[in-house]
Amino acid sequence: MAGPAPGPVGEEGKGAREGKKGCDAILEVSRSEAARRLYDYCKERGVDVLSIALMTPLEVAELVDADVTVAERIVRGLRELLGLEAIRGGRLREVAARRQQARVLKTRVQDFDERAGGLRFGLIYGFAGEYGTGKSMLAMQAAAYAAAEESRVVYIDTENAFSDALFGRILARACRELNCREEEAADRVELYQVADVYALQLLVRERLPPDAGVIVVDSIIEPFRAQFRGREYLQRRQQELHYTVDLLRRRALTRGALVVLTNQVMSVPELFGTDRPAGGHVLLHNVNALFVMYRPAKTKLEGVMVPWDVPGLSPEVRIRYKIADDGLR
Ligand SMILES: Nc1ncnc2c1ncn2[C@@H]1O[C@H](COP(=O)(O)OP(=O)(O)O)[C@@H](O)[C@H]1O
Ligand SMILES: [Mg+2]
Repeated sequence: MAGPAPGPVGEEGKGAREGKKGCDAILEVSRSEAARRLYDYCKERGVDVLSIALMTPLEVAELVDADVTVAERIVRGLRELLGLEAIRGGRLREVAARRQQARVLKTRVQDFDERAGGLRFGLIYGFAGEYGTGKSMLAMQAAAYAAAEESRVVYIDTENAFSDALFGRILARACRELNCREEEAADRVELYQVADVYALQLLVRERLPPDAGVIVVDSIIEPFRAQFRGREYLQRRQQELHYTVDLLRRRALTRGALVVLTNQVMSVPELFGTDRPAGGHVLLHNVNALFVMYRPAKTKLEGVMVPWDVPGLSPEVRIRYKIADDGLR
C-alpha cells in the first residue's frame, strides 16, 4: 500500500507519529526471527505497519508461524512505538465530553439526522432491510458526504450494488451543498470488491489505509450467507462474521473510524417488528446502533427506518425517508 494519502490525515487528530513509521518499526521493537519474518511480510505485501500493530498477538503468531509470547512482545512494542491507543475511555465525565465532541457525519436524510443525530465517528452502524429499501443508496450517500467533507473513505461492495452513476449523482448533490470539487472528493474514495469471506477479512485486517475515516460494507452478510451454506455451517459462519465485525470495531475504537454496515433481513412477511436482521445476535451485539429499513409499498419511493437497537432512541420512533434520483432525503 502506498504511504499516507494526500489530504487531511487521520480522524480526531490521530496519525502524527503513526503515519511516519514503516515496516522498519518491527525491527526496532524486536530482533527475533519472528520479527524478521513479519518485517518481510510487511514489506513484500505492502502492509501498513499500523495494521500489524492492530493485530492480536495470536494473529501475528499465526501469520508468521511464531510463538505467541514472542508475537506478544512485538505487538506490545509496536503499539508503544507507534503510540497506538488500544484503550479508549477514562473518567465518565471526560468520556462523555469527548463523545459530545466526536465528529458527526450528517447523512442528509433529514429525518434521520434530526432524530438520530447523524452518524458519529468511532462507532459502528448497521442498516438492515429487505431488498430495495435503500440500503445501498444510504451506504453510497454516507460515503459521498464523508468524502465531500474530506474524509478518506473505503467502500467495500460485496453485492455488486455500487452504481457509478448513482454515486456520481449523490456526490454531485453533496458537492453542491458543501461546495466541494467532485473530482477531489471522488479521489478520497476507494472502492473494493472481494472474492470471498477470507478476502474480506484480509482487506479489513491488512489492507485498509491507516487514515480511513469512514469504512462502508454493503452488505456485511452476503459473502457469509453465500459461502457458509446450510445449518451445519451456521456456527462457523457466525464465528467468521463475528471476527470480521471485530476487525472493523478495532478501527472504530483505535482510529475513530465511522463504520457503516448494511445487512439483509430474513424476511418474515409481516410489517414492522417481525423481520429479523440476518446474522442474528452477532450483528445485534457488535454494532453500536442498528436500524431496520422498511418500504411499505414498493410502488412508492418512500420508506421508514426503525431504531431496532439504538442507544437512547426508542424503537417506537419512526424515521421517514424518500428515495430520490440523487439519494435518500
Ligand atoms: N434513480 C432512482 N430514482 C428512484 N428510485 C431509484 C433510483 N435508483 C434506484 N431506485 C430505487 O431505490 C430502491 C432502493 O435501492 P437500493 O439502495 O439498491 O436498495 P437495497 O440496497 O436496500 O436493496 C430500489 O427499489 C430502486 O428501484
Ligand atoms: Mg443493496
